[in-house]
Amino acid sequence: MSKMTVPFGTISIPPRARTLINEALDAKRVSCGRFVRQFEQGFAELLGVPHAVAVATGTDADALALALLHDYGATPESEVIIPSLSFVATGNAVLHARLTPKFVDIDRKTLNIDVSRIEEAVTERTKAIMPVHLMGKPAEMDTIMDIAARHGLTVVEDAAEAHGMLYKGRPAGSIGHLGAFSLYVAHIISTIEGGVITCRSEEHAEILISLRSHGRACSCPSCVLSTTQTYCPKRFKDGQDIRFTFPRVGYSCKMNELEAAVGLANIDAYEDIVNTRYANLKYVLDRFDRFAPFLSTISEEPWEKIGPHAIPVVVNEAASFTRDELAAYLEQNGVETRTLFASMPTQCPGFAYLGHRPGEFPVAEYMGKNGLHIGCHHDLGIAEMEYFLHLLEKFLTARQS
Ligand SMILES: Cc1ncc(COP(=O)(O)O)c(C=O)c1O
Repeated sequence: MSKMTVPFGTISIPPRARTLINEALDAKRVSCGRFVRQFEQGFAELLGVPHAVAVATGTDADALALALLHDYGATPESEVIIPSLSFVATGNAVLHARLTPKFVDIDRKTLNIDVSRIEEAVTERTKAIMPVHLMGKPAEMDTIMDIAARHGLTVVEDAAEAHGMLYKGRPAGSIGHLGAFSLYVAHIISTIEGGVITCRSEEHAEILISLRSHGRACSCPSCVLSTTQTYCPKRFKDGQDIRFTFPRVGYSCKMNELEAAVGLANIDAYEDIVNTRYANLKYVLDRFDRFAPFLSTISEEPWEKIGPHAIPVVVNEAASFTRDELAAYLEQNGVETRTLFASMPTQCPGFAYLGHRPGEFPVAEYMGKNGLHIGCHHDLGIAEMEYFLHLLEKFLTARQS
């Protein structure tokens, strides 16, 4: 088989985005406005949820979904339960929200939070659980929602990697109380950089809109979206300008019109993007058993559809080679790789001040050293997936014989 290039993430911007970008530029209104609102409505519709609030990044989406807990009595000591393995943004977001992360190890089979360990992590300070659907593989949401209901906790799905995922027929972001998506280029619906929070409660949506704009009091759509300059009768009603009243500590993370234009065009292309990516992912997953016991990946259960974000590969104990050797071989042969992130509390130096010790999260730490992932995005096809499998076969034949 001749050498191919299998990049991790590319983005083809649909032609409609260019038309919409020009429209926004011609209208001379390029900050959060009409297109952002249309994007929010389109995204909410896609998931069948009542509200979506667009922000500047997926990390902001996680952080704001958690920061709203301060409206309900949370303090910096309040705890949020998260898996110890995720992209570092999950842990950063808890800290950005002025809350305390409580890490729980992951399940080796699913790469998601080990639900059998959540309850022992709950304390009187726990306010929320933020499971991550890592690599689009659904976290065990029924168990998580049961635990949350028993302890009165809010559930925020970190659905950054879970566009196109279904759990018992329900899309990511529609199962917990809130869902947080990244719209970064490597993700399925992209705005280039961006994030969006989904929620069922109108009150939550209003708090999120306030939080993304400095914690402002003003929540009427006309002011929020700067779509009009008309007189607002509410503005000076209480003796001060509500546009410059800030009842909560906020953030500055609005999405702009140019990003929303790209997002709108990607919503139009959503079905095609998901179908292509899913076909790539399934092609590899269905043919992966032959690499046992040396390599493994995730599998799809009958009640779920994995969101086709990327393809994880774990180098198991039986292998006589390291993850880094395998990654180097793939890279030399044109396949871009990423690691499978790290155990945030024990393998990310930025979290060292929290005082965790190596060995506390053995499964996450194993994945941090022995996992990688490759792309299955929509600019790739079955030929690239076949090439990747061929390389694994060749590598294993050379290294394990
Ligand atoms: C699980 C997870 N959470 C959060 C994020 C943060 O998203 P962003 O890069 O848009 O800030 C990412 C990014 O890829 C992610 O993978």
